[in-house]
Amino acid sequence: MPSLTVALTGAAGYIASHVAVALFERGHSVVGFDNFSNSSPKSLERVAQIADTHMPFEQLDLADTDGIEAFLRAHQVDAVIHFAGLKAVGESTEQPLRYHENNVGGSLSLLRAMENAGVRHLVFSSSATVYHPDEASPLREDASLGPINPYGATKLMVEQIIGDVATYSDLRAINLRYFNPVGAHPSGLIGEDPVGTPNNLMPFIMQVAVGRREQLNIFGDDYDTPDGTPIRDYIHVMDLAEGHVAAVEALHPTTGPGVDNVEAINLGTGVGSSVKEVLAAAEQAVDHPIPHQVVERRAGDGTVSYADPGRAEALLGWRATRTMADACVDHWRWQERNPHGFAPDPATDE
Ligand SMILES: NC(=O)c1ccc[n+]([C@@H]2O[C@H](COP(=O)([O-])OP(=O)(O)OC[C@H]3O[C@@H](n4cnc5c(N)ncnc54)[C@H](O)[C@@H]3O)[C@@H](O)[C@H]2O)c1
Repeated sequence: MPSLTVALTGAAGYIASHVAVALFERGHSVVGFDNFSNSSPKSLERVAQIADTHMPFEQLDLADTDGIEAFLRAHQVDAVIHFAGLKAVGESTEQPLRYHENNVGGSLSLLRAMENAGVRHLVFSSSATVYHPDEASPLREDASLGPINPYGATKLMVEQIIGDVATYSDLRAINLRYFNPVGAHPSGLIGEDPVGTPNNLMPFIMQVAVGRREQLNIFGDDYDTPDGTPIRDYIHVMDLAEGHVAAVEALHPTTGPGVDNVEAINLGTGVGSSVKEVLAAAEQAVDHPIPHQVVERRAGDGTVSYADPGRAEALLGWRATRTMADACVDHWRWQERNPHGFAPDPATDE
């Protein structure tokens, strides 16, 4: 495999930082930009520490088309992985316009910059939220689409825009539909560092475990599942990262297994875990009980959602190999060593 130069948008974020490590491990060059709206420059230092190499980086906003074009040209980029975006479902219902401006408007700006700079390979961070909530699992990529919140709508719109551009130009693109990323790099140096109250289950559980929050609320235990709590497909972030490497390589004309101009591909494990099962696995990893209570159901939560990961295996030669237990152990190592994420400890300022 020749060494590619891959640009990451949202390079300082949770998933991008793990993808950077995986790309460096495969011998690729990585460059990136971020506006730090939901991340810290510290994560870039930590990636450099793990990979023992430095990622050329600029503080740039997706809206800065000219700045991105100049960045792509300066680094002679072969492919872009587009992570930058706002991702909180609840917040997207309070600020729909901001979500569309940032995620859809920002992606248009990026596509324009890529076209101007002649960069023709794109991997996009899409999401399982694009699927219609009534679709039965395992979810295949041809299941009906129908997001039920503005965040999911931005993901589907960007997929559609990329689809049009790829169909009628020489752009080649893969829309990766992530299920629920969890875990952290095994070094404990990088991991998920949500600003404010975590929206996702695993970081919430781990913040309770480390003493930052009092208890976990389980939103309903009367769903039609074996233990009454909703079932999701949790994928270790390092498995997810390796899926991105496989996608970028698949787009490369001389080495890829031959993907069409535009593809949608699930990145999930194909295995569902209930909220109570995740909690039990986390308690094993942290080795103490994690306080929790069952409260009312939350609007918008479906009963069961997990991937059919077959297309990823067929087209990318990739499948997830890590377990929920691995994810909990790795997430806990990150959380225990960095109880306040990348921020200094408020007690010691270190
Ligand atoms: N984490 C998940 O559960 C999940 C699931 C499905 C899809 N995704 C998607 O994957 C991508 C990465 O997610 P993540 O969990 O790493 O989130 P993250 O918030 O950690 O990373 C996103 C990064 O993008 C940056 N960013 C946002 N808007 C920007 C802009 N206008 N210009 C430049 N930088 C900008 C943020 O500062 C942040 O560093 C997002 O697009 C998200 O929607 C995430």
